[in-house]
Amino acid sequence: MALWGGRFTQAADQRFKNFNDSLRFDYRLAEQDIDGSIGWSKALVSVGVLTHDEQQQLEQALNELKAEVVNHLEVILQDDAEDIHSWVESKLIDKVGNLGKKLHTGRSRNDQVAVDIKLWCKQQVTLLQKSIRQLQLKLVETAENNQNSVMPGYTHLQRAQPISFAHWCMAYVEMLDRDYSRLTDAYQRMNSCPLGSGALAGTAYAIDREQLAKDLGFAFATRNSLDSVSDRDHIIELLAAASLSMAHLSRFAEDMIIFNSGEANFVELSDRVTSGSSLMPQKKNPDACELIRGKAGRVMGALHGMLVTVKGLPLAYNKDMQEDKEGIFDALDTWHDCLDMATLVLEDIKVNVERTRNSALKGYSNATELADYLVAKGVPFRDSHHIVGETVVYAIQNGKALEDLTIPEFRKFSEVVGDDVYEILSLESCLTKRCAKGGVSPLRVAEAIADAKTRYSYP
Ligand code: ARG
Repeated sequence: MALWGGRFTQAADQRFKNFNDSLRFDYRLAEQDIDGSIGWSKALVSVGVLTHDEQQQLEQALNELKAEVVNHLEVILQDDAEDIHSWVESKLIDKVGNLGKKLHTGRSRNDQVAVDIKLWCKQQVTLLQKSIRQLQLKLVETAENNQNSVMPGYTHLQRAQPISFAHWCMAYVEMLDRDYSRLTDAYQRMNSCPLGSGALAGTAYAIDREQLAKDLGFAFATRNSLDSVSDRDHIIELLAAASLSMAHLSRFAEDMIIFNSGEANFVELSDRVTSGSSLMPQKKNPDACELIRGKAGRVMGALHGMLVTVKGLPLAYNKDMQEDKEGIFDALDTWHDCLDMATLVLEDIKVNVERTRNSALKGYSNATELADYLVAKGVPFRDSHHIVGETVVYAIQNGKALEDLTIPEFRKFSEVVGDDVYEILSLESCLTKRCAKGGVSPLRVAEAIADAKTRYSYP
């Protein structure tokens, strides 16, 4: 039975009911709706609506209901209720009879759904932060195991300067650090309890909302009832955090796809995260990474969808706001899956060190070293840049690497070049010289790994 039948003389059209009902997605809020209801029942004792014994009966029945469904929420989908709030109430009435009908006193589904989704979002933050840390730890471990793998670093997808695979891994650790802290920030702002705001104007029962907030695990009660029932900032902030993190994961995935390509052949992804072609027997496709890259689009779409939904929405609650759920559920599930999948991709990745090294040797990625060498010999940088440019053209025309040129060949372009040039052109020297904080020097990378391990209290 609908919660609001008294005012109506006609039943809802079935097509409208299908369109309007939200149980098929908000069933996922069952646990939060039950917890919120237990909190509310306690508040009702304080204002004399329920006796202590009645509250105990309700709490026991609600806990029973939670235990019945918590591990298989899909059973709720068999019901015909309009939404999860009606479902919980009707099941409660099935259990305790008329007493169950008292629970909704002074409460509206508007403050109820607001508290349910906030409780759910708070729980998700904790779970997502755990998955982010797991991926970071896997990246740190991969960095640690690949400290000696020199490879080309790119700008404009052109070989630029040599780096190490370890340094590449640690770059993603940093991005994920910011993703993690964005969740911490968002959590602080969502940690206020809207329950007790009624439909929009506040509840007519003089409950202690600060106590209610504490009972439900919030830091404090919200300050304005109109805002409380119409605020979906926490959803938008989580979608924004998810979108940015998915942008990071999509770059990780794209790098992996390039590294795994036949052309680069820098890494080999394991059979466990790749798939074959139905036609071409030789193929091993990086599907896990391609899906991570692709799914970034739908998470960003959910953010955009939600922003447009709240834009221009008048205060306070409007049914438009029911549209918050499918987007946030899907986006956070997707983000979660992608974090886990990225961790799995790294699990038994093989770096082809010979190949990455050979590739770093090509492409004149030590040209900056030659320019710095000339600067050290007194040539102004602008001139040295030009001289090295000409030297590179000569080397390309002669099919040689810079380190393969003879001293007379170097001297065609600059008189100052001597035998000591070969040392500075080596890959090792390129890496070691970049020893300021954040640079690719093996020492700095080892420090970054050690530092990350202490930060995340890696065993
Ligand atoms: N299913 C609704 C939602 O998700 C619950 C709140 C309904 N409130 C109302 N006044 N119809 O937003």
